[in-house]
Amino acid sequence: MDIKGTTKITGVFGNPVEHSLSPVFQNAAFQATGLDYVYIPFLVLQENLKKAVDGIRALNIKGVNITIPHKSNVVKLLDDIDDDVKILGVANTILNENGILKGFNTDGKGFIRSIQEDGGFTPKDKKVLILGAGGTSYAIAGRLIKEGISSLIICNRTKEKAILLKNHLEKKFTFFPVKIINFEERKNKDLLNGVDLLVNTTSCGMKEGDELLISEEVLHKNLFVYDVVYNRKTELIKMAQDKGLRHLNGLSMLTAT
Ligand SMILES: NC(=O)c1ccc[n+]([C@@H]2O[C@H](COP(=O)([O-])OP(=O)(O)OC[C@H]3O[C@@H](n4cnc5c(N)ncnc54)[C@H](OP(=O)(O)O)[C@@H]3O)[C@@H](O)[C@H]2O)c1
Repeated sequence: MDIKGTTKITGVFGNPVEHSLSPVFQNAAFQATGLDYVYIPFLVLQENLKKAVDGIRALNIKGVNITIPHKSNVVKLLDDIDDDVKILGVANTILNENGILKGFNTDGKGFIRSIQEDGGFTPKDKKVLILGAGGTSYAIAGRLIKEGISSLIICNRTKEKAILLKNHLEKKFTFFPVKIINFEERKNKDLLNGVDLLVNTTSCGMKEGDELLISEEVLHKNLFVYDVVYNRKTELIKMAQDKGLRHLNGLSMLTAT
């Protein structure tokens, strides 16, 4: 890569950030297209998020992606947000237009494109269970409701965060009922009875040895299993594959985003 005085800087803010594939394929894309840009992974701790966002202006960084765990907290630090961020409440991209920072969210759209095009799955009228209530969960849940799913169950380790997400969704999509189940209930045998789509939006599975959140016996043959984790083949995806279920991992979403 040829870095010069004119090279424009982009990157990703997150913690962890080491797992991110974005630097690899974004830099490859810049090289292939001959664009004078570079894409850098920035490890940003929660307590440094504001300073890092101010740094976008100070260092004339052209744009950044936002990943774990900043997608929600970053929104209030921006000058302007697009309609998706207004509805979903989370941003995964910041564009610096002459010092004005504008937030976008491409996760939800990427997820829908991926599950429709790569998975052959149409969300309309489907029953969905989402594991997790972090930034990615906001984007995917909101988009799935927009696509016309019939019901949504949220299961998160920290129940208070699941309640915040439910309140957010019910405020933005009035009359759409969102059910929360306790984290322990993910072990119930009938957890996925009648559910068409299971989406893991937690970071569980990113590291070898991470807990597998649900047990094999709850999976049924009509279920579609989607795991947003993309840096390795997760135990959830291995289990779905072994049982012959339709499934997709987060690589499909990453490339569709
Ligand atoms: N494929 C793609 O294109 C794509 C796009 C975006 C994100 N992702 C992936 O999505 C994942 C989540 O990212 P995010 O930005 O949404 O992160 P986040 O906002 O930090 O949320 C993390 C979620 O994971 C849960 N969690 C973490 N550790 C857990 C554990 N040990 N047991 C149970 N739950 C646990 C958290 O639960 P608590 O609320 O209890 O802490 C929370 O619900 C990451 O793996 C990221 O790489 C993929």
